[in-house]
Amino acid sequence: MDSEEKLQLSSGDLPLIFMKECAPDEYFLSNIALKRQMRGLGMGSRLLAFVEAQARQAGYHKVSLRVAIDNLDAKRFYQRHHYATKAIDLESNKRVSVLGPGYQSMVKELRNDD
Ligand SMILES: CC(C)(COP(=O)(O)OP(=O)(O)OC[C@H]1O[C@@H](n2cnc3c(N)ncnc32)[C@H](O)[C@@H]1OP(=O)(O)O)[C@@H](O)C(=O)NCCC(=O)NCCS
Repeated sequence: MDSEEKLQLSSGDLPLIFMKECAPDEYFLSNIALKRQMRGLGMGSRLLAFVEAQARQAGYHKVSLRVAIDNLDAKRFYQRHHYATKAIDLESNKRVSVLGPGYQSMVKELRNDD
């Protein structure tokens, strides 16, 4: 897809924004979500372990993600799994209100014994 086609795709109601989601040395986890009735049963923890194994297999030593600042349950979940806050991004708040109040970038350094 060339840049002209990309521009056409993004010329809907939303403004065009560019966000750097992760660093080149990070394996990026984008949006995990379980159906309500499936939450709190350990499946999210298993999914994270699976993603981290994939990252290792692909030769990465870090996994990163973005979580909405006000998603306290998910932030607690990631912290418990040793994800640390790397940065807070308030930009989405000002530019695209439907995207919520901003994001925290969280990163986990993978150790061999994890
Ligand atoms: C976040 C999520 C993937 C975690 O998966 P999970 O299977 O529920 O997590 P586990 O059972 O392994 O661990 C439970 C922890 O998940 C977190 N959690 C997040 N949302 C939860 C919910 N609605 N119900 C229960 N636990 C939730 C809590 O930290 C909980 O631990 P606690 O005992 O300290 O409250 C899942 O709850 C989910 O899909 N939430 C909604 C979507 C979301 O916020 N995704 C993250 C986007 S970055």
